[in-house]
Amino acid sequence: MTRYSSTNDTAESDLQKEYMEKAAVYVDRLADTLGRRPQCCVKTFGCQMNARDSEKLMGILTQIGYQPVDKEEDADFVIYNTCTVRDNANQRVYGRLGFLNSLKKGKPHMKIALCGCMMQEESVIDKIRTSYRFVDLIFGTHNIFKFAQLLVTMFENREMIVDIWQETDQIVEQLPVSRKYPYKSGVNIMFGCDNFCSYCIVPYVRGRERSRDPKEIVREIEALVDDGVVEVMLLGQNVNSYGRNLDAPMSFAQLLGEVEQIDGLRRIRFMTSHPKDLSDELIDVMKRSDKICRHLHLPLQSGSDRILQAMNRRYTKAQYLALADKIKNAMPDIALTTDIIVGFPGETPADVDETIDVVRRVQFDNAFTFIYSRRTGTPAAAMSGQVSEEVVHEGFDRLLKAVQDTAKERASLLQGQILDALVEEVNEQDASLMTGRLSNNMLVHFPADPSMIGRIVPISLDICHGFYYTGHMTTQKDG
Ligand code: SAH
Ligand code: SF4
Ligand code: F3S
Repeated sequence: MTRYSSTNDTAESDLQKEYMEKAAVYVDRLADTLGRRPQCCVKTFGCQMNARDSEKLMGILTQIGYQPVDKEEDADFVIYNTCTVRDNANQRVYGRLGFLNSLKKGKPHMKIALCGCMMQEESVIDKIRTSYRFVDLIFGTHNIFKFAQLLVTMFENREMIVDIWQETDQIVEQLPVSRKYPYKSGVNIMFGCDNFCSYCIVPYVRGRERSRDPKEIVREIEALVDDGVVEVMLLGQNVNSYGRNLDAPMSFAQLLGEVEQIDGLRRIRFMTSHPKDLSDELIDVMKRSDKICRHLHLPLQSGSDRILQAMNRRYTKAQYLALADKIKNAMPDIALTTDIIVGFPGETPADVDETIDVVRRVQFDNAFTFIYSRRTGTPAAAMSGQVSEEVVHEGFDRLLKAVQDTAKERASLLQGQILDALVEEVNEQDASLMTGRLSNNMLVHFPADPSMIGRIVPISLDICHGFYYTGHMTTQKDG
């Protein structure tokens, strides 16, 4: 058996640092030609894992002399970090590539790079090679740590550079990262996924599960805390199986125990938990912790045993309900959120009824509902009984209504309470308000000034607006 353990590859990170110096020379030359610093734009599609990868790309880009900008129009270098979990994610990328082509025509020195999950699909690479020849650089999820080296290759060549790896067991630490938020950060604890849910493409594009060395994780979080971070989100496709393949195996609950002890760290979140691997030990660690947030994202996918089995989820409706009960009994103030797919092959309205039944019984605080998307190469793509669009939409609408009803009901329960919120940003609609996040992940808007960003303050939850609150800062705390 191949063991994918965390190799702290110092030689590789030193090599990449050398490439950063080389790349910086090219960026300086470009700056001389342009008469200003070149600008770069990284657009992220998909999940938190991709968002964290983009921060790594941005870390290298700023290190070598690019200035970040938000809009493609202003950029000399555009990078799309893509997602392929559902087909609409792919379509958005193709749509925007046409726009990039028009930009590049007016700006011949412009460079375009594509990376991320979509690039791990052979059919995508074929399509880009034939129909999107203006792209300069393509790389995948496994060699993202080679970004600096790939940039140098791109600067030294005129033709399209394509470098896609099928797999890697390397975990390269200590490359620069440029964070989007000063006060909170994602932290990868593992990469890849071994679950092979039958509808899902992630195991094919992100490779086998590998865990990072706990010492590296703790060291990274300590450095983040020194740099002003008060909240971390531990990231993995299935955090509950963390550590199984390490040379010295440890559980996710044990890792949480270590992270918990980091002085100055105030809040810990994690994503995503697979119900089949959620241990009593984890519930116990959460319950005893005052840093681990009162929020658990526990994807259900379906409430029908027949569909769950066809999805290869390896739990039943009854097991999911029992788990949700156990969690709520241990932590009555916890918010449970979930993901649900409608329209899996063979799904009938009666199966959707089963899912709605779980929604009503568990009373999710929020649920992301997705229409099943057929992903080439997954077992479900070859299954018979693909559901017609009409039936899918009927089921989707019924489910959405159930989800919204329970979410509103759950939200209204907090009326009048005083709870701690991490002040995150200026409210987008009203600049006199700040937006804060409660431990249970709900948002609250309240009058305050931007100097409060990054602080954790008690807020009185005055008015419920369905899925969020408005309130005011207070000095008192609930008993
Ligand atoms: N690792 C996480 C989720 C990864 S993808 C987990 O196991 O829960 C995020 C969500 O996208 C999934 O929970 C699922 O609900 C949805 N999803 C994945 N593949 C899909 C597909 N082919 N069609 C529709 N939704 C899908
Ligand atoms: Fe996909 Fe299942 Fe892995 Fe989540 S656990 S990433 S849904 S295969
Ligand atoms: Fe998408 Fe890849 Fe995440 S397919 S959901 S960006 S792991």
